[in-house]
Amino acid sequence: MIPEEKVREVAERLSIVEVVSEYLPLRRAGSNFVGLCPFHGEKTPSFNVNPAREIFHCFGCGAGGNAFSFVMKVEGISFPEAVKLLARKAGIEIEERQLTPAEKKSQDEHTQFLRINELTASYYRSLLLTGQEGDGARQYLAGRMVAADISDAYRLGFAPDRRDGLVRHLKNNGVDLECALKLGVIRKSDSGWYDLFRNRLIFPIRDHRSQVIGFAGRVLDASLPKYINSPESPLYHKSSVLFGMDMALPSIRTSNAVIIVEGYFDHLALYRAGFRNVVATCGTALTPAHAGLIKRHGERVYTLFDGDSAGKKATIRSMELFLEQRIPAYVITMPPGDDPDSFLAQNAPEAFTALQDTARPIFEFFVRSLLVETPPDSVDNKVRVMDEIVPRFRKIADSVERDLYEREICRLLGIPVHAFRKRMGGKNITARDTTGESEGTAPTVTTVQDTLLSLLFGYPEARVEMATGGLETYFSGCHLALAQRIVDELKNDGEIKSLGHLTETLEGAELKSLFSRIMVSDSHLADIDWRTVFNQCRRSSEKKQLSSIKDLASRLALLEAGSEEYMELLKQADGLRSRKSNL
Ligand code: UTP
Ligand code: MN
Repeated sequence: MIPEEKVREVAERLSIVEVVSEYLPLRRAGSNFVGLCPFHGEKTPSFNVNPAREIFHCFGCGAGGNAFSFVMKVEGISFPEAVKLLARKAGIEIEERQLTPAEKKSQDEHTQFLRINELTASYYRSLLLTGQEGDGARQYLAGRMVAADISDAYRLGFAPDRRDGLVRHLKNNGVDLECALKLGVIRKSDSGWYDLFRNRLIFPIRDHRSQVIGFAGRVLDASLPKYINSPESPLYHKSSVLFGMDMALPSIRTSNAVIIVEGYFDHLALYRAGFRNVVATCGTALTPAHAGLIKRHGERVYTLFDGDSAGKKATIRSMELFLEQRIPAYVITMPPGDDPDSFLAQNAPEAFTALQDTARPIFEFFVRSLLVETPPDSVDNKVRVMDEIVPRFRKIADSVERDLYEREICRLLGIPVHAFRKRMGGKNITARDTTGESEGTAPTVTTVQDTLLSLLFGYPEARVEMATGGLETYFSGCHLALAQRIVDELKNDGEIKSLGHLTETLEGAELKSLFSRIMVSDSHLADIDWRTVFNQCRRSSEKKQLSSIKDLASRLALLEAGSEEYMELLKQADGLRSRKSNL
């Protein structure tokens, strides 16, 4: 552990402009420095660095943070690694803090776990490489055209058809079997210890730093279950691991794109054909954590799921996550009956590239498959289709995209736009567009909530006023969460100890991004009469609230009085009214 004071010392010694300048040229623009964002491709600079606050923010991709977050992202390293790297640059020596006994114990156990997985992986690997037992597995791989270099890249292995081969191997290496039990690679019964995997081809599952955290084992024939996966363990969390991330990272960094597949062999087939920016879910549905991981490293994602109905379902479920996290997503469709392995066995890599080039935006894919399933040839069907579309449509973040889809949906359904909007509930009130201006240098703070947040940050009296009135009166969503954090942070001494500290402790990309955005774009609010601006904001939100009450009223008129939906809306309307009266 690096002591907190050291981290702060490093932060104080280096200027963020100095750090960033080593990676890209910056030029001054007003109170900020600007340059071309290293995290997404762009031609006009939207990457801003605020030297006074030691914060950067990109208006194009939303990346933001302090010098440490910048180095972490640009080098693809962890926080402690970034601190050490910058400490070297600043000429500060880092002595790691002594661990507490509890920390020491958990670190020792962690080291044990990693060692057990390492022993397990090399045991299986050696049995695949040599010895008679591995004959079948070697033949199997030869039959699937898996050459030595590929087998090596994945560290493929073979689990022998023995009850306790691994158990013995671990024991001989002095491993505490109870510890191995926690990883699930061996099990215990009344008649003793035994192996989890028997007579299976083994795929080690590695994290982004290539440490083995789990295993998957495939049968060598058509028996079932086809795969056994190691269970959840202190090292292995299915819902947050993407198989192949370590092999994919360099290529994701250069292409900014991530291809996501379902199977280990899908991954292998693409890797063999030279497509390296690929990851696979490990036998689970895509989770929000997976989507977050993708967003952290890439800019857009391609799904490549099977063409059957299960694959379609998986695609649509993943769409909701991508829409929520605002990750542009496309669907690569294989010819019917093909998977990446069979496709690439018969076609050149260029043919796959062509498929990728014609990938459809995921929302379009969704609407089209919906219409195939439920042709809009009756009023009933049209309503059914709309009801499937509406909740997902609301999640589209980009207003231009939304307009285009709205037109397209109406055309495909053969309905007028106002009918769709009515189903959406009044006018097109889905706008949640906070990415707003995406190019050019630091745009000034725009929305009312942004402005109020800047006031909250910059003017103690405004802060007191808003905190007393109740922050929920002024803010919602991320803005509310951030306002709360700022107020808490400033409660004691009125001065944020360090902005850097705050960016590091904010949770979630959206919150971090909002914070850095406000921090690099509120210079026009310095030295103003906060009261005047504050009152303007209040008037403008009052107007907005009035109009949303009107919206709600018109939606209420369409519903059956007393229905569940009706009561829910009524509650919302009451809430709005009382918020308004607080203003
Ligand atoms: P597939 O059956 O498509 O496997 O399942 P595959 O890896 O493409 O293998 P081949 O090409 O048919 O030999 C896709 C993924 O679903 C998970 C695995 O992660 C697999 O790679 N799965 C499948 C399981 O976890 N358990 C199973 O029994 C089957
Ligand atoms: Mn498959």
